Amino acid sequence: MLSAEDVRAGYGSSEVLFGMSFEAARGEVVSLIGRNGMGKTTTVRTLMGMLPVRAGNIVIDGQPVVNRPPHAVARLGVGLVPEGRRVFGSLTVEENLVATRRAGRGKVEWDLPRIYQLFPRLGERRRQSSRTLSGGEQQMLAIGRALMTNPLLLVLDEATEGLAPIIRQEIWRCLAVLKREGLTIVVIDKNLAEMQDLVDRHHIVEKGKVVWAGSPGELSAQPELAQRYLGL
Ligand SMILES: Nc1ncnc2c1ncn2[C@@H]1O[C@H](COP(=O)(O)OP(=O)(O)O)[C@@H](O)[C@H]1O
Ligand SMILES: [Mg+2]
Repeated sequence: MLSAEDVRAGYGSSEVLFGMSFEAARGEVVSLIGRNGMGKTTTVRTLMGMLPVRAGNIVIDGQPVVNRPPHAVARLGVGLVPEGRRVFGSLTVEENLVATRRAGRGKVEWDLPRIYQLFPRLGERRRQSSRTLSGGEQQMLAIGRALMTNPLLLVLDEATEGLAPIIRQEIWRCLAVLKREGLTIVVIDKNLAEMQDLVDRHHIVEKGKVVWAGSPGELSAQPELAQRYLGL
C-alpha cells in the first residue's frame, strides 16, 4: 500500500531525510517512532506531497507520489491527521466533517452517522463551534475529517500528544476498529505501551532514516533500543 524507498528531502539547504525507507502492506498498522527532530513529520510532509522528494521514491497503492501536489496525493487515498490538530474553528463539528467529505478510494463509505458511531462525543457536539471543543474532541474531529475523505491509508502524526489517558484510550480504540475494517495506518506516537496491541511493525527513525524495524514484541525484548533511540 505504501512504500518509501531511500527518500531524501529537506527544507532549502537543510537536509533532513537521508535515505528514509519503510513499508506498510494493505491492512497493516506501522509506526514511526523516535526522538523529536529526527524527521518523522518531515517524512509525513514528503509523503503527502508538501515537500519535494529530492531522491528516492514513494509509491502509494502502486502510484508514484513524486512530483504530485498535495491534493493529488490526497486523491490517491491518503487521509492525514496532521501534527497539532487543525480544525476550522469557525465551523461547527458537523460543518467541519461535511467540508472534507469526498468520494474516496477506500472500501468503506464514511458518512456522518458512521463518524458519530465511532466518536459519540462528536455526535453530541455536532452543532457546536469546533473552537469550543476540548483538545481530545478536536483530535477526534481531525480523525473524523480524515475519514470523511474515505482513505485507503490513514496517517496520524502525534494524534495523542497532550491528551488525557482516557481520551488517548478512546483514540486507540477507534484505531483498532479501523484496523479491523482493513484500513492501512501509519502512526507516529510516543506512547509505545499503548500502541503495543495495535502496531504490526515499528520503525525507529534516527537522523532522517529508519535504523531499526520490528514487531512490538521484538522491541520490548531489546530494552537497549528504546534507551538508545527513544530516550526511554
Ligand atoms: N519548516 C521547517 N523549516 C526548516 N527546518 C525544519 C522545518 N520543520 C522541521 N525542520 C527541521 O527538520 C528536522 C526534523 O524535524 P521533524 O520532521 O519535525 O522531526 P520530528 O517530527 O521527528 O520531531 C529538525 O531538525 C527540524 O528543526
Ligand atoms: Mg513531528
